This record gives sequence, structure tokens and C-alpha cells, in this order.
Amino acid sequence: KGFLQFVGRATLITTIGGAGAFYYITQREKHPGPQMPFDPEKKTLVVLGSGWGATSLLLKPWIQLTSTSHQVVVSPRNFFLFTPLLPSVAVGTLNTRSIIQSIRYITRHKTRNVSVIEAEATDVDPVSKTISFKDSSDIKGAVSSTTVPYDYLVYAVGAETQTFNIPGVKEHACFMKELNDAERFQNEFLDCLETAAFPGQDAQEVERLLHMVVVGGGPTGVELSGELHDFLENDLKSWYPELAGKIRITLVEALPSVLPTFSKQLINYTESTFKESKIDILTKTMVKEVKERSVVLQMPDKSIQEMPCGLVVWAAGNRGRKVTQDLMAKLPDVQNNRRGIVVDEYLRMKGAEDSIFAIGDCTATAYAPTAQVASQQGAYLARQLHQMAKRDHLEEKLGKLETLASTVLDEEEKKKALQEVEVTKKQLAKIKLRPFEYSHQGSLAYIGSEKAIADLPFMNGNIATGGVATYLFWRSAYLSTLFSLRNRVLVATDWMKVKLFGRDVARE
Ligand code: FAD
Ligand code: NAI
Repeated sequence: KGFLQFVGRATLITTIGGAGAFYYITQREKHPGPQMPFDPEKKTLVVLGSGWGATSLLLKPWIQLTSTSHQVVVSPRNFFLFTPLLPSVAVGTLNTRSIIQSIRYITRHKTRNVSVIEAEATDVDPVSKTISFKDSSDIKGAVSSTTVPYDYLVYAVGAETQTFNIPGVKEHACFMKELNDAERFQNEFLDCLETAAFPGQDAQEVERLLHMVVVGGGPTGVELSGELHDFLENDLKSWYPELAGKIRITLVEALPSVLPTFSKQLINYTESTFKESKIDILTKTMVKEVKERSVVLQMPDKSIQEMPCGLVVWAAGNRGRKVTQDLMAKLPDVQNNRRGIVVDEYLRMKGAEDSIFAIGDCTATAYAPTAQVASQQGAYLARQLHQMAKRDHLEEKLGKLETLASTVLDEEEKKKALQEVEVTKKQLAKIKLRPFEYSHQGSLAYIGSEKAIADLPFMNGNIATGGVATYLFWRSAYLSTLFSLRNRVLVATDWMKVKLFGRDVARE
């Protein structure tokens, strides 16, 4: 009896303590304290973007240890988007709000004030060191564009979807890059279902409307196909029983296999899982045109075929944004890589090494354009900027001390100044700017049917694993890397909601 009482009390205390700690953390997140003002005399650091690279930089405490610099964030979206879970939003497993977090959530938790401007950079001038940006939202005030100077610029604007200027892509296909792409997909997909269920629709038209084509067998296309399959399997069978068996998913890939960056055994595993899930994979097949009701394909034997479909999702990779191309065009001798901005090993933009740093998908480096790379680069740069601020401060101090030592007449004071010069020189010599080194933590992808694949570095080799256990690992890995406690709670709740009640098929 005594033991049971002890267990009961311990459970009660732990529950109350846990609830109290949870409440304390949420309140602290909800009500950030007052901030110190920035020093307008100091250098201005402008960060362009609010994605993986930019937020990782802003999150690091180092960035505020560059202490007195004036920090400004400019981005057309005032939130961070957790892209790995975007395909889950597209099929309604997760709510849109669950995977985004306001950028002010980071900046308001900083000890010093950071300005946030919701705007789109339209021009960067590396010579005059200025950025022009415009308010691209629907509601505009009296002022909707301006130009500001910068001392240091962190350029992290990401990339946009590559269309290769293929006819009809922009007009007729959905992308899968931004939050509104996922929302558009969800809406159009449900529209296809409702239209197919319209009375009197002939069999051929129903077949077309229920054919979903995903272009691009990279991780985005594969994950979306897997999520789409889950939606059909788990929910549509219940709510559209007359249509369920008629829905088809086709994944089109120009290369000989899907997921070319994963290990061979995981490619095979994905292909066999898709076969079981009745997802057709067309490899060595290139989409040449997207029409309103079909896609035009170049088949492996080079013949051209037109495939009717209801919806096309275009996930054919990345290309640089216009603002990036324009910036590169201003430094044509050194910025001539079509993949993006060329940087040195310190992530300084070639041709503008003294002031511009570029990170993430907008750059052309030896690394894949992933969140993992962008966030490591952001974290590295935060430390680097801190080191640079320390160096600038010491150089300024050294200059003043040397002037003092050469002008002061009193011998004692001169000796003291010279001693301080030596100490400062030693401190300066200790500041080492190390080059960026990427540490690969592995690649993970969800392939549907509660299965995921993972290529994980181990010792000097690699472990390739796939299946249900990897899916649980995938879920826990993403849950723990989500941006905030709020995001974690919302995503976990969404997962639970789908398990209990299924996905929502009501169209907004
Ligand atoms: P982004 O995160 O795209 O951020 C760019 C920022 O710049 C945005 O805030 C944007 O609004 C802003 N911006 C755009 N134009 C301007 C402008 N003119 N002026 C100012 N700001 C501008 N990678 C992984 O490692 N693992 C994954 O599981 C994974 N899953 C993914 C799933 C999907 C569906 C997608 C699309 C990508 C996925 N990625 C994943 C890749 C990853 O999202 C990118 O590599 C990462 O977002 C790159 O970070 P970034 O900071 O360079 O760009
Ligand atoms: P991607 O560049 O990896 O893949 C695009 C695919 O589309 C390529 O395989 C290409 O051959 C194919 N393609 C291009 N044009 C085509 C055409 N006309 N017809 C048919 N196929 C065509 O692009 P994705 O998947 O958007 O990924 C972008 C980046 O984001 C990558 O670096 C990727 O690693 C990363 N990412 C990582 C994820 C993960 O780790 N789970 C998930 C999603 C993206």
C-alpha cells in the first residue's frame, strides 16, 4: 500500500511539474521581453530571406554578439516554412499553420532589436552597397518601395522551381515549393474528384480527371506521390468509394531511375514499394509540354505520346531567382555559373568578398541544395560574422592605440600605449576565420504506405535502411527539428487527428 501511495504521489508531482514547466515555456515563448535598441552608428547587416539559411543564422546567439550592428531582415514572406513536411500539407495530413512560424518569433526573442521588413528585394547593387525592395503584398501604403544601404549582406533568397521554359508548365501545372503551392494542389485535387463525381461524366473523362501526374522523380516528386497514395488509400476509399479504384498516379522522370542521389538499394526499394502501391513510374521519359488536359511525353524510344490527366505537379528541380540572376550579371567575370552564386570557402560572394555572403539554394557549391546545407551555412556564418565584428573592433582599437603611441609625449604613457598595442595585436592574431565545412547527417525521404528510406553516414561508410521503423525515425527526426514548441505540438496533434478522424476532404 505504501509503495502504491509513493507511486501515486510521484506521478502527481511529475504531472503537475511537467504541466507547470510546459506552461512556463509557452508563456515565455508567447511574451518576449523588452529588447535593447541597436546602435545606429554601427554597421548595418541586412539578411535577405526567411528560409532555412536565414533563420539558422538568426537563431544563433553569435549573431547578436556581433552586438552593436544594426540588423535588418527583408523577406516577402514573414514566416519560416518547414519544407520537408510540405507534401503532407498538400494532402491535408497537416494544417498549413502547423509548419510555419512567424520570423518575428525569432527576432523578438533576441536581446537586441532586429528590424523585419516584409518585402521582396528587387535589386542589389554590390558597388554602392544598396538593396532596393518593394512591398509585394496586396495592400499597399503610401510608400511601397525603397532603397537601403548595407555594410554586410547575407544573401539567402533560395531558388524557384525550374521549368526549363517548357510550354504550358507555368500555366497548367502546380508547383510544390511554397505554402500556397500545397494549398493550390489540395484544392485542385479535390476539384478533380468532385468534377469526376459530377453526374453524367463519361468513363473516359472520369479516367482523365482521376489521373494525377507528378513530374520529377527527385525527393519532392517521390514524397508527394507517396503522400498522395496514402490519401487515396486511407481516406478517399471511404468518402468517394465509387471513384477510389479509378484514381491513378504516374511519376515521370527523365533519368534512368528515381531518387538518383540515394543508394541503389533504396532506389530499388522505393520502386518496388511504388509498384505495390500502384504508382506507375515512367523513367527515361521527359515531359515536353503541359496542356490543360494532358502532358506530352518523350518516351525512352524518343517517340512522342500525349497522356490525358486531371492534374500535373511539377517538381523538376531548382533555378535561380531573377534578383539573383540580375545580381550575378553585375559581376560577369566571376559570376558565370548557371546554377547560382559562386562563393569562396568562407561563403563570400566572388567579386563582392568584402560585403556579400551567399548561402543555401541560391548558391552554386559542391553540395546539394538542401535544408541541411543551408542551415549549416547559416549557423557557420553567424559565428563568422561574430568573429569579423570582433576583428573590426580590435582593428579600430589598434588604430587608436597606435595613433596615441605616436603622438603622446609622456614616456610612461607612450610605454603603456605600446604595451596595449602588443596585447591587441596578439588578440587580433588569435582571430581565425575558418572555412565552411559541411557535415552530412544523412538523407531521409517518406515514400508512402508508412515507409521511409534513409541513407545515414556511419563510420566511414553508409547505412541504407527503409521500411516502417525508418518511417518512425523519419517522423521523430522531423518532429524534433521543427522550428518551435508550438510547431511540434501542432504537427503531433495533426498526426493524431488524422489517425483518429482521417483527412478532411471538404474543399475551402
Ligand atoms: P529557402 O528556405 O527557400 O528560403 C528562401 C527565402 O528567401 C524565403 O523566405 C523567401 O520568401 C525569401 N525570398 C525569396 N525571394 C526573395 C527576394 N526577392 N527578396 C528577399 N527574400 C526573398 N531539404 C532537406 O535537407 N531535407 C528535406 O527533407 C527537404 N525536403 C524538402 C521538401 C520540399 C517539398 C522542398 C520544396 C524542399 C525540400 N528540401 C529539403 C530542400 C530545402 O527546402 C531547401 O534546400 C532549403 O529551403 C534551402 O534554404 P534557403 O534558405 O536557401 O531557401
Ligand atoms: P531534383 O532536382 O532533386 O529532382 C528533379 C527531377 O526532375 C530530376 O531527377 C530531373 O531529372 C527531373 N526532371 C527535370 N525535368 C524533367 C522533365 N521535363 N521531365 C521529366 N523529369 C524531369 O528536385 P527536387 O526533388 O525538387 O529537390 C530539390 C532539392 O531539394 C534537392 O537537392 C533535394 O535533395 C532536396 N529535397 C530533399 C528532400 C529530402 O531529403 N527528403 C525532399 C525534397 C527535396
